[in-house]
Amino acid sequence: MNIFRKKRRLRLGQVGNGPEQPSAEELAAFAREEELYALGNAAALDSFGLSSALMISRYRPIAKHLASIGKRYSMLHPDVLILLYYLACKSRGDILEIGPYIGGSTIALAEGVRDAGQERAFVTVEKGGRLEHPTLTSRDIVADLKQNLAHNRVADLVQLIVGEAVANETGEEVRRRLRPGSVELFVMDADGGVELALDFYRDLLADHCWVVIDDYFAATGPAFDKAARTKAQIDALGTTGELEGLAPFGWGTWFGRWHRPHFVRHP
Ligand SMILES: C[S@@+](CC[C@H](N)C(=O)[O-])C[C@H]1O[C@@H](n2cnc3c(N)ncnc32)[C@H](O)[C@@H]1O
Repeated sequence: MNIFRKKRRLRLGQVGNGPEQPSAEELAAFAREEELYALGNAAALDSFGLSSALMISRYRPIAKHLASIGKRYSMLHPDVLILLYYLACKSRGDILEIGPYIGGSTIALAEGVRDAGQERAFVTVEKGGRLEHPTLTSRDIVADLKQNLAHNRVADLVQLIVGEAVANETGEEVRRRLRPGSVELFVMDADGGVELALDFYRDLLADHCWVVIDDYFAATGPAFDKAARTKAQIDALGTTGELEGLAPFGWGTWFGRWHRPHFVRHP
């Protein structure tokens, strides 16, 4: 265990209230499971690999913890939170998220960053405002987000930028924190403007990076129209080879990879 990880765990141990930390025996058992299902490296996480990672993670203490985070702060399915955590653990580069709302997905990602034990940038972009929701209403999204990140002791791992995702000033703020080609995990759960967001942030993405986009599917409700637009854009980017779909999980969250198109210069 490197020093960054050890220090942070010690700190978490002092304050308590984090996810239950696995014992050395449990960590050894997790490593054996990963070996058994050939999940040794990030490249092994194809669609079967992602499903296997989800399957084995459901039995770990983190799954129970993320289910409780999900109930309090997220519109995403608990399986999606587990996979966000898992990918944040497995990836080594920076993370860019658009649309944290009050922090469910953000906390899952930040805990993955913390447990991976390697310092890197995690930037999340939220435009703020208020939102009526059957169970997760917020009168001030940014205030609630900040409070929830602090309450879950991950605020120091997340760089929050308040603004419209594709506004020039937001882009400048994001680029002050992220280098070109450094993002290995791009998570988008915002307004369905997938093509616009990719056009705007493409230079920051590492070739073959992970991409997670909600809502690829919604049977009914307010996300129905957004899902239709989102699916059409993802599928179109799939035909050009820029996006490669691996699997949808949860209630309709798309998981895949981004491949640098030939027309984009290497950073
Ligand atoms: C569906 S919620 C995100 C849910 C969250 N990921 C979770 O785990 O529950 C969408 C969020 O994206 C934000 N948003 C929507 N469009 C945006 C945009 N263009 N720029 C920045 N934030 C945006 C909304 O304010 C809202 O907080």
